[in-house]
Amino acid sequence: MSEIVVTGGSALSGTVAVLGAKNAVLKQQVAALLAPGKHLLENVPHIVDVELMGDVLQYVGASCVLEDHTLAIDVPEDITPEAPLDLVRQMRASILMLGPLLARCGKVRVALPGGDDLGARPVDMHIDGLRQLGAEFELRHGVLEGTASRGLLGAEIAFDFPSVGATENVLLAAVLARGETTIDNAAREPELEDLAAYLNAMGAQVSGAGTSTIRVLGVDRLEPATHRVVPDRVEAGTYAIAGAITGGDVKVADCVPDHLRMELRKLQEAGCRVEAGEDWVTIDGPKRPTALNFATLPYPGFATDLHPQMVALLATADGTSVITENVYESRFKYIGELSRMGADISTDWQHAVIRGVPYLSGCPVVAPDIRAGASLVLAGLRAEGYSTISEVHHIDRGYEGFVDKLAALGASIERRD
Ligand code: UD1
Repeated sequence: MSEIVVTGGSALSGTVAVLGAKNAVLKQQVAALLAPGKHLLENVPHIVDVELMGDVLQYVGASCVLEDHTLAIDVPEDITPEAPLDLVRQMRASILMLGPLLARCGKVRVALPGGDDLGARPVDMHIDGLRQLGAEFELRHGVLEGTASRGLLGAEIAFDFPSVGATENVLLAAVLARGETTIDNAAREPELEDLAAYLNAMGAQVSGAGTSTIRVLGVDRLEPATHRVVPDRVEAGTYAIAGAITGGDVKVADCVPDHLRMELRKLQEAGCRVEAGEDWVTIDGPKRPTALNFATLPYPGFATDLHPQMVALLATADGTSVITENVYESRFKYIGELSRMGADISTDWQHAVIRGVPYLSGCPVVAPDIRAGASLVLAGLRAEGYSTISEVHHIDRGYEGFVDKLAALGASIERRD
């Protein structure tokens, strides 16, 4: 079992470059299924989730080859409209196959993903949205079977909550549906806007992505396309917080600071000096951060995927911080691990109260998921002595070269495989 060993105390300095967004690539791999032929996605990170989605595509009949951050996807005319349980379990985003496979094949079978470490995570909005486009679903033996025998028909859909995945699933079906679809209260995440840009490059007619109302005019056929994936705002934010937590001076390059407006504002509130250009941001961290409050919300609110990293920073803040997690029902499982390092945090339902302590102290901890894993490594950078973070396969799902990038910034860190 691989682990990361980190010794705290070094202020990070230098430049770190980020790659394309995990949460954009995965959807674009699925979107490729809409158009037979050869697609190219550029700026793709070498991470486990991209490989796993490659396995899902392979099952369907398509191939994915990643070389030098360019992913070549070859989609045959005939594909198998199915994703079995062992693949869906490993790659929850395979639920996004529902929309495109219904649109292309008129039927689909996808095993239903279970809950995970972030809570129950139901897919009711995905299914309701696709039903409104004319699909019918039945759940049999844990497998969701969808049919659209008369094809999909554009509809006016309004979500109760701007779910990223449900918006994407409906969008991926609507591009090949007959007529016009409107999605109201759509998610506005940059990754969704990037998905729409890729779909439009394939010949789709999508407008309004990145706003709360997306309009789609269905077309008969899409063509393969080449697309450069939007930079990963969560990876960028993680390195920005790494600079902040060590009182260092870090430049994050090849990112879009505009996609991190709320998070950078909060870093300033914590006492960081922040400067940003079009595709870079520098963070000059304080000796000790100032306590602050934040609440996670759908974009452009504070990203839930940066919540655990920010809590690591606030663990040593001067004062008490209160944070509210509004997106997931249980994202606090890592708090127990941070507490073992000396953090003083209590949680109650959606809230965490973080009473800042002057020092954390290194110890063995276990990464419960991707972002919490990153948070524990960042806490280790600040802690006295050394920390061992195990279960780092979670971190491998979303960060290419995490340890190497931090080491290049001057962190005392190594990976033991
Ligand atoms: C995506 C991201 C994830 C990020 C999240 C929120 C990917 C692969 N994952 O997840 O990293 O944390 O957006 O920014 O892109 N919900 C329902 N019913 C549904 C759909 C969602 O109740 O049908 C609930 C979920 O349980 C969750 C909340 O809505 O509590 C947010 O989910 P959603 O926005 O759909 O996130 P994901 O697409 O799953």
